[in-house]
Amino acid sequence: MVGNPSKSRQSIVTALLHFCFCFCFSTSFFTATVNCSDSNSNSNIGVGVNWGTMTSHQLPPEKVVEMMRENGFKKVKLFEAEKPIMEALIGSEIEVMVAIPNFMLLDMSRDPSYADYWVDANITTYAYPGGVDIKYVAVGNEPFLKAYNETYLQTTLPALKNVQNALNRVGFGSQIKATVPLNADIYQSPESNPVPSAGDFRTEIKDATIEIIQFLYSNDAPFTVNIYPFLSLYGNPYFPMDFAFFDGSNKPVRDGNYLYGNVFDANYDTLVASLSKAGYPDMKIVVGEIGWPTDGDVNANVKNAKRFNQGVIKHVVSARGTPVRTGRLEIYLFSLLDENKKSIAPGSFETHWGIFEYDGKPKYELDLTGAKRDRGLVPVLGVRYMSRRWCVLNPKVKELDGLAKEIDYACSLSDCTSLGYGSSCNHLSLSGNASYAFNMYYQLQGQSDWDCEFSGLAVVTGEDPSVGECRFPVMIAYGTSVVVHRRLLKVLLGVVGGCIVFLLLVS
Ligand SMILES: *[C@@H]1O[C@H](CO)[C@@H](O)[C@H](O)[C@H]1NC(C)=O
Ligand SMILES: *[C@@H]1O[C@H](CO)[C@@H](O)[C@H](O)[C@H]1NC(C)=O
Ligand SMILES: *[C@@H]1O[C@H](CO)[C@@H](O)[C@H](O)[C@H]1NC(C)=O
Repeated sequence: MVGNPSKSRQSIVTALLHFCFCFCFSTSFFTATVNCSDSNSNSNIGVGVNWGTMTSHQLPPEKVVEMMRENGFKKVKLFEAEKPIMEALIGSEIEVMVAIPNFMLLDMSRDPSYADYWVDANITTYAYPGGVDIKYVAVGNEPFLKAYNETYLQTTLPALKNVQNALNRVGFGSQIKATVPLNADIYQSPESNPVPSAGDFRTEIKDATIEIIQFLYSNDAPFTVNIYPFLSLYGNPYFPMDFAFFDGSNKPVRDGNYLYGNVFDANYDTLVASLSKAGYPDMKIVVGEIGWPTDGDVNANVKNAKRFNQGVIKHVVSARGTPVRTGRLEIYLFSLLDENKKSIAPGSFETHWGIFEYDGKPKYELDLTGAKRDRGLVPVLGVRYMSRRWCVLNPKVKELDGLAKEIDYACSLSDCTSLGYGSSCNHLSLSGNASYAFNMYYQLQGQSDWDCEFSGLAVVTGEDPSVGECRFPVMIAYGTSVVVHRRLLKVLLGVVGGCIVFLLLVS
């Protein structure tokens, strides 16, 4: 919507008419034949991004959507159909993959009417022309993950079928496809022959996976896979660092006639080989998650995250594909924002996957278009924060008995992952550790005075205790600012007025 100032009156009028036309008459027929998207974006490569919401303080969804549009994200993947987020996406023209969480798979598999009910409430409500551009429904999230011990082995396919059938029944079958995002741990190459062409699905889940593939294929739906080179590095101290990135100088790995310079391509082609063995060499593949965290591990930092994610985008832009599967990759970066309520069982890095901080500030520059425009990422605008106040260890206190217990308590109810080995605040002294823990607890609880007690060890300060890379955050406040709503109202009034004029002119 926000374009460059046009050079002539003519172009303003044309643009207005075009916009009105699209706005007033966007039925599925018209949107299919009229290009209603931003005509400035000549580099519409459609990089997608995952938007998870496991966070203590939610940014206003409509501001996040505005930020995504400003930055040129064309696609988003959601982990649930949360009403405020779906509503914020109405009219945004951002293509959506919306998910059904694992805990719903059992009910979804048993009862087709439950799938009907879910589709009715969460898809039909939004998927009208000019509403939310829903393209995929993700049935479950990595249901065949090794760590789940085959919990969802029997329910995933029946749930997938019920969901797609429910979509078909209400006439969305050709437009909205159900798929199942699976973790790359469902396939592998044998240790004796660790090359992509030797890849195949893991024995325990092989039959179930192939049945899913058959259903997806017959329905013209893609196979969705989450690939994490960071985890290859995290899980294996002997893993060659450079091989995790796309600009590495490592000696490439040879597989027959193919050369592999990075682990992503090797992993992707291991999937292609596994699909080929199952009889589906041309199965469409979507990378549902790919990314790099910025804290919580020695290899998790801004430099590596930027290097990796920029490498992924360049890879997509190049449209070269992988050695075996050429053509443009379809990917969703993981992820948009940091999520401080994610489980850190897999590792302390889990709360730090965001390209943006918890408050919508970009952590690093990323060129999403590949157009090499010299422009940093746009933050979420108009964010309101709580007061500039921090809770720290009281420097006057001499008796530090019980400090360890208080730190443990504060950390058990907040996020202290930045204190760990190799992380941004690992260099702090014991008192710095205590202050960090106290502050995280204090901010998450909402800055009440009684949240800065800790048996008399803590005190509130107005001085930012951050040191270097180690940031002591102030939490965001709930609610939206009125200013933006006023602006929105103006825009809406303008649009309605413009449309009335247009209708008068053509009648
Ligand atoms: C819509 O989906 C959300 C999350 O995926 C779920 O909590 C909600 O119950 C669904 N609505 C219905 C009516 O099933
Ligand atoms: C899977 O099995 C392991 C080992 O038996 C167990 O420790 C773990 O809790 C199980 N996980 C789930 C999700 O059932
Ligand atoms: C601070 O806390 C971290 C994480 O618990 C720990 O590894 C480190 O040793 C602590 N530093 C001091 C000086 O106690």
